Amino acid sequence: MDDRIITNEQLEEDNEEQIRPRQMEEYIGQTEVKENIKIFIQAARIRKEALDHVLLYGPPGLGKTTLSHIIANELGSSIKTVTGPSIEKSGDLAAILSSLDDYDVLFIDEIHRIPKYIEEILYSAMEDFKLEIMVGNEGNSRNITIDLPPFTLVGATTRAGDLSSPLRDRFGIVSKLQFYSDEELTQIVNRTSRVLDCPIDEDAAFELARRSRGTPRVANRLFKRVRDYAQVLGNGKIDLSITKIALDRLKVDELGLDDTDYHLLKSIIERFNGGPVGIEAIASSIGEEQTTIEDVYEPYLLQRGLLKRTARGRMVTKLAYEHLNIPFPEGK
Ligand SMILES: Nc1ncnc2c1ncn2[C@@H]1O[C@H](COP(=O)(O)OP(=O)(O)O)[C@@H](O)[C@H]1O
Ligand SMILES: [Mg+2]
Repeated sequence: MDDRIITNEQLEEDNEEQIRPRQMEEYIGQTEVKENIKIFIQAARIRKEALDHVLLYGPPGLGKTTLSHIIANELGSSIKTVTGPSIEKSGDLAAILSSLDDYDVLFIDEIHRIPKYIEEILYSAMEDFKLEIMVGNEGNSRNITIDLPPFTLVGATTRAGDLSSPLRDRFGIVSKLQFYSDEELTQIVNRTSRVLDCPIDEDAAFELARRSRGTPRVANRLFKRVRDYAQVLGNGKIDLSITKIALDRLKVDELGLDDTDYHLLKSIIERFNGGPVGIEAIASSIGEEQTTIEDVYEPYLLQRGLLKRTARGRMVTKLAYEHLNIPFPEGK
């Protein structure tokens, strides 16, 4: 069984619908993004227009899906959800677009994974609210144009760089979600504790927060695991000592690093002399998908200053050597 805490897949146990904030006021952190979007929403409502298309990007678990739903809520609109890879034919996208009502939000998750030849349909849909499709069969086909209602496309992606520029340019609002501070994550942990009706001590909440690698989804997962330990090994109450025991057993270290992070950093040090080394070589050396490393592991390691990106590849920093207790080769 894969019982990793840090994955980009949704786990069944996440049961995220239950804890997901529904209102902007409940959405903790991301202050700048939030403030901007609130203003754009108000302006759109005053003008009785659809909100400009929104692109949300950043590592998994930072709140892209949550924010998309909140945007629809605040607009008083319905939301229709689809994922990029599930759109296989242009007809799939045409069907979704023609099912929209006035001012609906169309949420496309993993929008970078829409096949390029289908993507083009989005251009006129986004720009002019027109659907241009080919009908008929070979030898007897023609283009027809269908008017679409005004709608807002909200796209989410872990890789904004993978979007083609014509698509990216059609988003009026482009927001990057940031890793959360320990204080913000503490608030999120406390909120989860209230929603799940499971008390946690203030110092335990902070400990859990700072070991959640800046990511609400990880914080919520850790919360649930720690709750299990508290119920089985303790008296159900989550205090600092049970939190530390649980997190150590889960092999989540002081910085929130897990086995795979260690494996990754160690293999760069041991097999590639600390780098620089290409991402492909790292991936095959530790047996992980390159995209998993790039989307899930690397962003946090970069942000913590344990890893560095150079033109010639990834390098482990002195800080990482220190964190792993490996002597730093001087002169490097
Ligand atoms: N700003 C936030 N405040 C409170 N909880 C959050 C916030 N962002 C995310 N979460 C929690 O983290 C979980 C994962 O967020 P999600 O929106 O699914 O991330 P993403 O779509 O970016 O992968 C959600 O279920 C939600 O409970
Ligand atoms: Mg999501």
